[in-house]
Amino acid sequence: MSVVILDLGSRYTQLVARRIRELHAYSVILPATASADEIHNYQPEAIVLSGGPASVFDPQSPCLDPHIFSCGLPILGIDYGMQYLVHHFGGREERGDRREYGPAHLTRYGGSLFSGLSGDIQVWVSHADIVSEPPRGWRVVAETTENPVAAVESADGRCLGVQFHPEVAHTPAGAIILGNFLASANVSRDWTSEHSLDLLVRGVRERVGDARVLLATSGGVDSSTLALLLARAGVDHTAIFVDHGLLRLGEPEEVERTLRDLGVNLVTVEAADRFLHALKGISSPEEKRRAIGREFIAVFEEKAKELGPFRFLAQGTVYPDVIESTGCEGAGVIKSHHNVGGLPETFGFQLLEPFRHLFKDEVREIARLLELPDAIRRRHPFPGPGLAIRILGEVTFKRLDILRRAEALFIRALKEWGLYNEIWQALAVLTPVRSVGVIEDERHYGYVLALRAVTSVDGMRADWFPLPSGLLDEVARQIIRRVPKIGRVVYDITSKPPGTIEWE
Ligand code: XMP
Repeated sequence: MSVVILDLGSRYTQLVARRIRELHAYSVILPATASADEIHNYQPEAIVLSGGPASVFDPQSPCLDPHIFSCGLPILGIDYGMQYLVHHFGGREERGDRREYGPAHLTRYGGSLFSGLSGDIQVWVSHADIVSEPPRGWRVVAETTENPVAAVESADGRCLGVQFHPEVAHTPAGAIILGNFLASANVSRDWTSEHSLDLLVRGVRERVGDARVLLATSGGVDSSTLALLLARAGVDHTAIFVDHGLLRLGEPEEVERTLRDLGVNLVTVEAADRFLHALKGISSPEEKRRAIGREFIAVFEEKAKELGPFRFLAQGTVYPDVIESTGCEGAGVIKSHHNVGGLPETFGFQLLEPFRHLFKDEVREIARLLELPDAIRRRHPFPGPGLAIRILGEVTFKRLDILRRAEALFIRALKEWGLYNEIWQALAVLTPVRSVGVIEDERHYGYVLALRAVTSVDGMRADWFPLPSGLLDEVARQIIRRVPKIGRVVYDITSKPPGTIEWE
């Protein structure tokens, strides 16, 4: 029993699936081209049409199998999905000459979708075309100041459409609206994370069979959970940990120890010199990522020859890595995360990325079920390119040493103050800016170091964390005393958006 989500090209399709999982229902994403028969294989109880940048006026836009609409299943159309529904059932649309994008407020609403809601409802919209006339017999069930047809419902209540995105965090009542749809469609609500784990285990087993897997591990929560998942699936795997010299103080030793304690069959590669060499003279963030990505791949290929053959390379890629690296729906690439951005066409492995559709907090939940120790499960995320993207400008051995020592003091203080687990991610950034200060009556000219701590649910949006001034004061004094190359410490109070979590 499931909800089938037909992907009409929205950047948010995985988010719809996530919200449905949060509402304890099972969902499958299928391409817009899926036939009604293929959809029926999943025994759907309801269908959701995702949004997307397409227009019903454009002949190139995704087209759905028309049998989907006559099979009697409840259907929710989101954004372009609503326009498609309206168009199919004979309503009228107008081509928008400008895009309405951002927050909007429902000025009037009613009907099953909005059951239990009252007062101001903020929603997130992103569309150009608008519905000017719903199909005959349908009701308009919500409007905004800008759009008189913000939600529609068919006469029998089976088809519903919303011209906003209930799945995004900017629609705070979105979970209630989606929950109301599931309730009106009588969708089974017994899905748990144990079911997700079973599905992952089965998926890995079926795909890998008795082939061998090389697992790229960093010691972070995603790849460590993946190591346990591969073990649970009983597939033959070897984990490889590349110490690229861009890790934090004491990290290589800690990662090795923890993974070995977990029984992971681990091969460590000391590669600091070759990575630093590859980064020589490079200042641009994307260039750094590409150089690091190339080195990683070279190391994997060399090791695979030595230890292989392997058919698969497994990585702990999560969905935000994918979306920020590939961009879609008119959005540009934000950052090319090395593990998804830079694999060559002639790569000798098939990629195995079982968490590609999950969000980090969901991977943490899988980690809990697989009994990954809390210390790794709650570890703050750390980017694959490591400290290279926290040193603005060229990465050198000396700068790495400065940043490492400063960052360790910051993280230690967060743990001592009992705040580490309240924060999604904390980091320090070494800027190339130098500033004048005075230490013991002497002029001091040192680097500016920025501290950053954010809260987030999934890394897609983040808010800066209001650290106590006493902690900031203590950390700034310690850093300047113990890391003399640093002359000034600042705290970053930019949320995401507009700032990303990392500075590069
Ligand atoms: P941003 O900076 O894009 O980061 O807001 C969102 C999350 O992704 C991590 N991040 C990366 N992870 N390779 C990675 O494996 C990368 O190139 C990369 N860039 C950012 C970041 O630490 C945060 O958790």
